[in-house]
Amino acid sequence: MTTPAEAVSPPAHPMGKGTLARQLVVRVTALVALLTIVLGMFTVLASFQILQREVDDRLNAAVGRRLPDGDRIPGDPTGSGVIRIDSIDGVSRTISSVTVPIEAKQQLLAVRAGDPVNVRLEGLGMYRVLAREYPFHTVVALPMSEVTKPLTSQLVMTALLTGAMILVSYLATRRVVEASLRPLNRLTATATQVSNLPLERGEGQVPIRVAPADAQPDSEVGRVGLAFNHMLDNVEGALAARHRSETKVRQFVADASHELRNPLASIRGYAELTRRGEDALPEDAAYALGRIESESDRMSVLVEDLLLLARLDSQPTLDLQPVDVTEILLNAVSDARAADSEHQWSLDLPEDVITAMADPHRLHQVITNLLANARTHTPAGTSVTAALRAEAGSAVISVTDNGPGVAPEIQPTVFERFTRADASRVRQDSGSSTGLGLAIVSAVVKAHGGSVELDSQPGRTVFTLRVPLA
Ligand SMILES: Nc1ncnc2c1ncn2[C@@H]1O[C@H](COP(=O)(O)OP(=O)(O)OP(=O)(O)O)[C@@H](O)[C@H]1O
Ligand SMILES: [Mg+2]
Repeated sequence: MTTPAEAVSPPAHPMGKGTLARQLVVRVTALVALLTIVLGMFTVLASFQILQREVDDRLNAAVGRRLPDGDRIPGDPTGSGVIRIDSIDGVSRTISSVTVPIEAKQQLLAVRAGDPVNVRLEGLGMYRVLAREYPFHTVVALPMSEVTKPLTSQLVMTALLTGAMILVSYLATRRVVEASLRPLNRLTATATQVSNLPLERGEGQVPIRVAPADAQPDSEVGRVGLAFNHMLDNVEGALAARHRSETKVRQFVADASHELRNPLASIRGYAELTRRGEDALPEDAAYALGRIESESDRMSVLVEDLLLLARLDSQPTLDLQPVDVTEILLNAVSDARAADSEHQWSLDLPEDVITAMADPHRLHQVITNLLANARTHTPAGTSVTAALRAEAGSAVISVTDNGPGVAPEIQPTVFERFTRADASRVRQDSGSSTGLGLAIVSAVVKAHGGSVELDSQPGRTVFTLRVPLA
């Protein structure tokens, strides 16, 4: 299960996998890369065409002119690499600054008139060749390196520029995106902080707000920040209202319980007074008197329990002191043994004394409640073991029984007030069960800064308390 905090925690890295920042940077860089590569390819292609046309123009110029013997070919002032073959009546004459192998010459003579063509000449490489038939067969050829050499350097330049542009666009986008998303990340951090606040208890104050700089209505993120702050104001208001009404209810319960104490004491007093003359009472009146006494006793316990819970809710007043838990456990189990001999009571105590920081009276009450449950909610003959150990800075007290277990449907809420199993499950004294015992256990232990948990299935029920060691 994920806790709310996990659910909204920001990514480990602002550019982490799946982040908006990363998506933006990757997409913008990819787009820039695509555009620069296409642009680069177009430039190189255009240059290739221009250079080739230049070569073709030179070829046309060269083929169209008759040259005086030994002269250089026009359009090629350096004369480097240009080949011209004139063939008149089967006799050919070659003008060239490079030596033309016989195979290359044959390849050249095989070219017919038309548009310039590319021919890979044996021993010379790629040449652009143009032929003319009239007045005699003339072939001119220029090396393609005239085109490829400048093109290669242009290609290298374009590639370098493209790479540099992609890199610059990546770095710039990353900077811009990171800077623009920083307020959003701050917002996430604030939301995470809020989600970690313990809002279920107390006055529900939400002391966290998005910083004013991140809550301005002129940007999208700022508007989210503003809305978030409004929401927090609202939540705080609602929590405060809830706290006020809860406090009122608690106060009412505390007052009512307190006010009930006096009339209850009077009822018990009068019952006791009447019992003194019991012999003079008819049998049914004596029975009714017994019921009045036992019910008013039960009601007193209930009122005391309610009062205690109300007090623990508002301001837990505990008389904290170093307490020998072993002794408390020993006393509580002896009391249980004395009260009920139908169960098998045993103790599992450590050699060393374990001292906890606790209110001895309340701790005794908590253990008594658990032992009373093991007594009243399990059949006769059930074994009950109270054990004690020290673990990770806490005194760990457990009460285990091998009875039928806590009804599964009430397990999730068993520590809440007035939670009881279906009356049919309750073995005895069903009338005396109020469902406050475990609520008191939980409230007292929490007031000690400890915890209580239940692990129950048929045949094994364990209540485990943890109270900080002294
Ligand atoms: N050891 C146990 N075995 C089986 N069921 C239990 C055990 N302890 C508690 N329960 C169940 O949990 C319910 C709640 O217990 P809790 O102590 O809060 O109230 P209660 O015992 O019914 O009344 P009270 O303790 O106020 O007199 C009980 O009614 C019972 O159904
Ligand atoms: Mg109980």
